[in-house]
Order: sequence, then structure tokens, then C-alpha cells
Amino acid sequence: MKKLIALLLALTMIFAFAACAKAPAKEETKTLTMACSADFPPYEFVNDDGSYAGIDVDIAQAICDKLGYKLEVKDMDFDGIIAAVESGAVSFGMSGLTITDERKESVNFSDSYAKGVQVILVKEDSEIATVDDLDGAKIGVQAGTTGDIYCTDDYGQDNVSQFTKYAMAVEALKNDQVDCVVLDNEPAKAFVEANEGLKILDTAYADEDYAAAFNKNDTELLEQFNKALGELKADGTLDKIVDKYINAK
Ligand code: ARG
Repeated sequence: MKKLIALLLALTMIFAFAACAKAPAKEETKTLTMACSADFPPYEFVNDDGSYAGIDVDIAQAICDKLGYKLEVKDMDFDGIIAAVESGAVSFGMSGLTITDERKESVNFSDSYAKGVQVILVKEDSEIATVDDLDGAKIGVQAGTTGDIYCTDDYGQDNVSQFTKYAMAVEALKNDQVDCVVLDNEPAKAFVEANEGLKILDTAYADEDYAAAFNKNDTELLEQFNKALGELKADGTLDKIVDKYINAK
């Protein structure tokens, strides 16, 4: 009996050992997390089914596909993105982010993949007709954006209302809580399309370049990203993505 038990024990141990040894070392695909403020169509927005879409999301996905990463989108307030990249809480930030000298002190930027223009969104019957009329007007912006920074510099903190999401700024415009919203041209067009009674002034406020932001210590990922981005530019994938969201409309 004792022998039998010993044998059984031995066998159990052999099986247990074999099972452990055989357990396939899980080939985990590494995940890259992308910080964005998904309130910025056509660059990043939330679909009705809760999934994320947009030019930035598609470009990031195409780059991850090339590099063999899974992509996870992390939606957050815009003014938290640079800090999230800086602290390493996310792998990179891609959110219609304008390259600025000030941000360059905190993060590294990838090559640029798109151009943006700061424009002025008003109600159709607005008295604001040019940039000059912004003096003394109540200006709505998204907190931490270049629109916020330029307008606060030019017209003073007291004239600028900061919102965490653009949709809130647009609501405030519709309710006459602000006289205009300063924001990027493509999202402005999307908001005009989605809301009655809004228009964009043809006087632009500032020209900008968009790029993804990386942690200063993660130059390896930045290099991989730029290489993949270059390939997507060269083979027409980037244009195709932009066409899908902008030019095709
Ligand atoms: N281009 C502007 C900036 O970098 C605005 C970007 C806002 N992006 C967003 N996903 N809400 O400041």
C-alpha cells in the first residue's frame, strides 16, 4: 500500500512537472497605449458602439500592425496627455497634438503627419467677423490646447473660458455663454456639420503641424514609429486614411 501511494505521488509529481513544463510560454503581444482626447473628429472620436475611430487612431493602428504591437486607446482630458507621456503612464500621445517649443521641453515629437489651422467658430448670426473682433469677446477653448495658449496670451485669461472637452465649448457657444470657439479647422468643420447654425470664419488664427508625442527616454520606440510612419507615407496608406475621413466626404 505504502509503495502504491509513493508511486502515485511520484507519478502525480511527474505529471505536474510535465504540465508546468509544457504550459506554452504565452507569446504575449506587447501593447502600446495611446493617450488622446477622443472629442476631436475626424482625428479621434468615439463611435456609437463605444469604439474609437479617426485619423490618429487609424494611423496608430497601422503603425502598431507594422511593428507587431496591439494598440490600446486611452481617452483622457487633453490637458493630461503630455503629463501622461512624460510620466510613462502611456506609450505615446496622439491627439491632433501640435508641435510647440514649450511641449518639446517635456516630450519628443515624431515626424509630423498632418497640418492644422486654428480657426474661429461662431454662430451664423455672430457679430464677430475677423480676428480683430476677438478683442473683448468671450472666447471658448479646450483647456491646454494651442487655441487656449494663444488666446490667453493675446486676450487675457479673463476673456477665455476653458472647457475639458470641445463638445462642451460648442454647447456653450450655442447657449451664448461664449461668443466664439477657437479650435482646429477639421474638428471645426465636423462641429459645423453636426450642429445647426454655426460657421467658421475664413480668417485663420494660426498654422500648425501635428505629431505624436513620446517620452524623452523612449527614443527607441520613437525611431520605430517614425520609420513605420515614413513607410505609410511612402506607400499611400496615410493618404488613404485621410481620404477615408476627410477628402472622401
Ligand atoms: N492642435 C491643438 C493642440 O495641440 C488641439 C488639439 C486638441 N486635440 C484633441 N484631441 N482634443 O493643442
